[in-house]
Amino acid sequence: MHLTDHEKAMLDGAHGAAKQRAMDLLVRYGEALGAERLVETRNVAGTWNAASPALKPFAEKGFDAVFSKFNLDSDDVVETPQAEVYTCQLIHGVDTENWRVHGTPEEYVDTQRRAEEHFGRRGITMMATCTPYQVGNVPVRNEHCAWMESSAVVYCNAVLGARTNTEGRESTGAASITARIPYWGFHVPENRLGTHLVRVEHPVDDMMEWGLLGYHVGEVVQEDIPVLDGVAQAPSMIKLKHFGAAAASSGGVEMYHIPGSTPEAPTLEAAFGPRRPVEVISYGAAERRTAYENLNSSARDEDVDFVMLGCPHNSLEQVWRAARLLEGRKVHANSSLWIFTPRALKEVADRNGYTAIIREAGAHLMSDTCPAIGRMVPKGTRVVATDSAKQAHYLPSMLNVQTWFGSVEDCVEAAITGRWRGRLP
Ligand code: F3S
Repeated sequence: MHLTDHEKAMLDGAHGAAKQRAMDLLVRYGEALGAERLVETRNVAGTWNAASPALKPFAEKGFDAVFSKFNLDSDDVVETPQAEVYTCQLIHGVDTENWRVHGTPEEYVDTQRRAEEHFGRRGITMMATCTPYQVGNVPVRNEHCAWMESSAVVYCNAVLGARTNTEGRESTGAASITARIPYWGFHVPENRLGTHLVRVEHPVDDMMEWGLLGYHVGEVVQEDIPVLDGVAQAPSMIKLKHFGAAAASSGGVEMYHIPGSTPEAPTLEAAFGPRRPVEVISYGAAERRTAYENLNSSARDEDVDFVMLGCPHNSLEQVWRAARLLEGRKVHANSSLWIFTPRALKEVADRNGYTAIIREAGAHLMSDTCPAIGRMVPKGTRVVATDSAKQAHYLPSMLNVQTWFGSVEDCVEAAITGRWRGRLP
């Protein structure tokens, strides 16, 4: 791999032990993937979490031990240096405010608080969300990033036109202190062109429809790059958030184009460049129904124990809409409703009175984690309802629960009545 003089100096240890380990990791990683060089990045989104059972033996030795092992892949313990570039913490497993509701052991909450102080003081911005683009981390077009988290990665590439692969905890740790990441995959312009043409023949207007479309497209194209043709209405951030998360769950979609909406596809021709589509697929009434049935395939019992909204983390608009649906009503005694939003947005929701409306209805507005990442649902939960295709995809296998998928209105009604009445309109 070709390295600049500065990169060689870091690799030789001239800039300290941590950067030496980081460069060693990045070179090994890049060479394994055939990258010929590194690229400068000034935007990193990863994880510096230290509060989970697997990390406990390391956290007991101090957070430098956690950082060395899990962010640098180093058996030697090195001191955690300051981040070199803007870096944020993605979602993690502990909500330090609502941990009692989740049933999180207090020792992990304490570890999480101390870890946030340790890494926060070293420049890791504790956003604690899978949607950093909702709370100020909005890279510009063509900016080289190093991001983790599939729903964030696909949003970064497709909607923002910035460039990232799906990085890991170690590579984002190394990128944060070296400002470098291997140049391969989605950093390379020609790897960002469309592969599959998707003819959208059924109207997609609300969030649930975008989730269904994403789920179908991901299942068909897997890790390739779909180009959606026939979308009549320019989609909003919320809809794209749900589309990308769904496509990254049923498949491994990291990039897509919607001609006229996403920045690298002013036209259908531009989305494919010199390529021809390898396949043309249709999304009509039959495909929509199949996606809905697949998402609901684990669900049988109509008594709903738990309703989850906010995957990916809800925008303020979504929190406001949920609050309006809940105002003056009560969550059923046999059910629970948890809504997740980034902690920075929760502060605004608190001040706007949305949190109080949600609380008065017997529901909870939460942040920092989600049931899939925190592996937690209310005790005794057998049946879940959610408006998120991603959450409906993962919860049945992760937590052995039945999961209904539907609209946000279906989900709120299920929380209020304790019964699932959702149907495909
Ligand atoms: Fe975010 Fe958890 Fe969903 S990480 S995208 S809320 S599964």
